[in-house]
Amino acid sequence: MSFSFFSVITVLLALLMISSVEATDTISPNQALRDGETLVSAGSIFELGFFTPGNSTNRRYVGIWYYNFSTSTVLWVANRETPVPDRSGTLSIGTDGNLVILAGEDKTTIWSSDVSLPSNTSSFATLSDSGNLVLNNSGSNSVMWQSFDHPTDTYLPGMKVGLDLRTNKNQFFTSWKSEDDPAQGNFSMGIDPSTQIFLWEGTKPRWRSGRWNSQVFIGIQDMVPTYIYGFKLSNFEQEQKMYFYYTEFNSSHRYVLTWDGIEKHLIWKNDTQTWDLFWAQPVTDCEHYNKCGMNGACTDGNTPICACLKGYEPVNDEEWSRGDWSSGCAKRTLFQCERNNSQGEADGFWKMEGVKLPDLSYWYVNVNANANDESSCQQTCLSNCSCRAYSVVSGIGCLIWGTELLDVHMFSSGGEDLYLRLAGSELENQKKLAAFVIVIIVLVVILALGGTYLFWRYRSKIKGFIKLRKQTLLVDQSRNREGTADISITTEIGHEANDGQELPLLSFDTIAASTANFSYLNLLGEGGFGPVYKGTLPDGNEIAVKRLSRSSGQGLEEFKNEIILIAKLQHRNLVRLLGCCLQREEKILVYEYMPNRSLDAFIFDSAKKGVLDWKKRYDIIEGIARGLLYLHRDSRLRVIHRDLKASNILLDEEMNPKISDFGLARIFGNDDKETNTKRVAGTYGYMSPEYAMNGVFSVKSDVYSFGVLLLEIVSGKRNSKYYNTELSMNLLAYAWKLWNEDNVMEFVEPTIRDKCSRREVFRCVNVGLLCVQDRANDRPTMSSVILMLESGTSNHPLPRQPTFAVDTSETDSSSFDLRLKNSDSITMLTGR
Ligand SMILES: *[C@@H]1O[C@H](CO)[C@@H](O)[C@H](O)[C@H]1NC(C)=O
Ligand SMILES: *[C@@H]1O[C@H](CO)[C@@H](O)[C@H](O)[C@H]1NC(C)=O
Ligand SMILES: *[C@@H]1O[C@H](CO)[C@@H](O)[C@H](O)[C@H]1NC(C)=O
Ligand SMILES: *[C@@H]1O[C@H](CO)[C@@H](O)[C@H](O)[C@H]1NC(C)=O
Ligand SMILES: *[C@@H]1O[C@H](CO)[C@@H](O)[C@H](O)[C@H]1NC(C)=O
Ligand SMILES: *[C@@H]1O[C@H](CO)[C@@H](O)[C@H](O)[C@H]1NC(C)=O
Ligand SMILES: *[C@@H]1O[C@H](CO)[C@@H](O)[C@H](O)[C@H]1NC(C)=O
Ligand SMILES: *[C@@H]1O[C@H](CO)[C@@H](O)[C@H](O)[C@H]1NC(C)=O
Ligand SMILES: *[C@@H]1O[C@H](CO)[C@@H](O)[C@H](O)[C@H]1NC(C)=O
Repeated sequence: MSFSFFSVITVLLALLMISSVEATDTISPNQALRDGETLVSAGSIFELGFFTPGNSTNRRYVGIWYYNFSTSTVLWVANRETPVPDRSGTLSIGTDGNLVILAGEDKTTIWSSDVSLPSNTSSFATLSDSGNLVLNNSGSNSVMWQSFDHPTDTYLPGMKVGLDLRTNKNQFFTSWKSEDDPAQGNFSMGIDPSTQIFLWEGTKPRWRSGRWNSQVFIGIQDMVPTYIYGFKLSNFEQEQKMYFYYTEFNSSHRYVLTWDGIEKHLIWKNDTQTWDLFWAQPVTDCEHYNKCGMNGACTDGNTPICACLKGYEPVNDEEWSRGDWSSGCAKRTLFQCERNNSQGEADGFWKMEGVKLPDLSYWYVNVNANANDESSCQQTCLSNCSCRAYSVVSGIGCLIWGTELLDVHMFSSGGEDLYLRLAGSELENQKKLAAFVIVIIVLVVILALGGTYLFWRYRSKIKGFIKLRKQTLLVDQSRNREGTADISITTEIGHEANDGQELPLLSFDTIAASTANFSYLNLLGEGGFGPVYKGTLPDGNEIAVKRLSRSSGQGLEEFKNEIILIAKLQHRNLVRLLGCCLQREEKILVYEYMPNRSLDAFIFDSAKKGVLDWKKRYDIIEGIARGLLYLHRDSRLRVIHRDLKASNILLDEEMNPKISDFGLARIFGNDDKETNTKRVAGTYGYMSPEYAMNGVFSVKSDVYSFGVLLLEIVSGKRNSKYYNTELSMNLLAYAWKLWNEDNVMEFVEPTIRDKCSRREVFRCVNVGLLCVQDRANDRPTMSSVILMLESGTSNHPLPRQPTFAVDTSETDSSSFDLRLKNSDSITMLTGR
């Protein structure tokens, strides 16, 4: 009796132990993990168990994945080559103390951690909250085996996968074979002794990151510096192992080498509960290793994408013209030092900007500080006849190439300067060309000055002429209404629209009817390019109609092509262009209609301020940033907006921001330099110093405008209007002052102040001040801005004081104004 009672207790205990396996994070000698059961790390972050990948059937693997995202996020696989054919598998501690997977009735070992362990000791394995499966042994104080040392395709924080400098043994990440087969695929990724990350296909390089300069990898375009990723290079001289590691701040990150050979950086987005793709390489043609062969340079977007470096010519003309770049280019002229007679010009250098520096370089370590300045680097190169090029990179020093130049990629932004060695005769041609160009420029300037003078003299006459034109136009329209003159033209254009045109052309009549003949009652506003009306099409759809008021200086055909390009820019944070009308003198653009009009109507309006609470404002800031990033980087055109401001941000029903008027600067900005009066130039208060002073414009000038806009959204005050007379400072100066006094909450719009997160306000003002720094180079790119806004880290770099912010003294501001007033564009420039 007592025996059976005892056995019942034992069975119960055993059952309890088995069921408790599901909640534990440890496997100990007498506790096998059966198919269907899982280990969960202490903080419920990672889970380990058996799974079947993708669509494969009946193949069971042991893997680790994120507890919350289940097996779609498998990041490590134990038995990748040897699946269990059925559900009989168990994971346990084997008799020798190793972690083993046993399968079938006869318990065959199909996988083992396979390390030698002291005999007569016991082992146990634990799944940690970092995603690491660790095997410990009672006979030793060190970790016997861990999954972090045997990575599959995912790079997690804390991993130290790299090159052992003592044994020269390299560890790699390897891709899956296919979406549903975790066996080793064709692609691997690891570190190279030159501190570059390489991705290989078999043994062939497929992509490289460029060297590490202790902040970023210089071969990744627009890579955000270390303070966000937290990437670090190991102290490899001491540790004798070279690897990169990173720490994650508040959001989860993972880097996955996908089965098709793409390295992806994914970030967990808390708000949308998704893994967002932040970046992926290689994606474009030029990101693929050595696309253009030796001594070729690759430029995405060019046709053809490949060109020989200056002074080089295709090795095989016929292949090259066919688009087969594989044999690359060769030097056209010998260097002087290669010639036997010492006559002829000395060798010189040709500067290339924005380059992904070539692979393989002799690295002249900074022995004395002077070795890294440009002239001594140049000297070193000149003194060795095999030197082909040099570059001085901050954080690395002087780099010298003594071989063919491989994998040169021209970046559209960022990148390094490369000095290419050329024979004197090649440079000679260049000098002649330069002289020619200078002569042309001088001629153009003289003509332009003459033109401007004439223009000033006849200005009043021209104004009168324009007035006259307008009247004629009105007359034309009224005639139109009577429905006579234009019908044939309309049908003609309508035809054209059916000939595979991607942008619908609407007839003037339709548009005039939809807006009740451009009735004052339908006027939505007066934009930078002309009035905007609300229209209602016969089918009830609402549209916004922009009637361009100025001539673009472009021909009709060019204009149409440009508009078609703009219409292709589509993003959820850009207003969509639906169609246009180009009839007679009219140029009309038709956009989707935004019921909530523009942002300035909310943030600067005392009655409507409260509608946008802090969360909404933050969303709006992020949305604008995303739209702008799309324009700058992701769209094919790489558009600079040039006139970003609150009134150009429209809001849809759900108050999602949409940028408007983008791309128009392309049409009106470029060709109009000589007749400055009609230049569309941006708005006072949003203009970056380099543009206001020198007319220099870049994506960083948009970043400046974005910074101002951000500060306006946070504070609810206009930069151009706000002037604190008491403190005698403008909005930027005010933001700077409060930031330095650690009093950012004071900066926030009073009506929402008590309901917002101090951390987020701090982050916003930080980013805003970074964006409005004087030097364009100091300002972050839009991709950094987005990462800073979303990452949740508070370790951003500190901004420098914007000097525009301190134009408090009378003299300063008035001198600035004067400069602007001197140009005729001031009337256009002032904000409305
Ligand atoms: C997993 O999801 C639960 C509930 O959705 C949540 O409370 C928990 O914070 C999540 N864990 C992680 C690590 O995201
Ligand atoms: C699995 O099968 C479905 C339907 O056949 C298919 O749509 C899906 O792409 C497949 N997934 C994988 C990973 O092969
Ligand atoms: C292992 O331990 C057992 C008992 O603890 C002992 O009888 C046996 O001799 C030991 N074996 C070895 C090889 O040390
Ligand atoms: C395993 O061993 C390592 C090294 O001694 C130790 O730091 C770690 O805490 C051990 N793990 C467990 C779960 O005891
Ligand atoms: C891997 O290489 C093999 C052999 O070259 C090829 O057949 C296969 O398509 C490759 N797989 C991928 C995913 O590229
Ligand atoms: C994630 O979002 C939830 C609510 O959506 C919030 O409670 C939590 O604090 C957020 N976590 C982080 C790290 O921001
Ligand atoms: C220079 O002279 C060497 C031997 O004198 C000869 O081998 C070489 O071909 C010459 N090079 C040129 C470019 O003439
Ligand atoms: C010139 O560079 C080559 C490598 O290209 C190197 O082997 C050689 O030693 C250098 N010569 C001198 C004089 O520095
Ligand atoms: C992460 O968020 C917490 C609060 O949610 C904050 O205290 C901490 O500073 C953040 N960590 C970093 C590195 O930004």
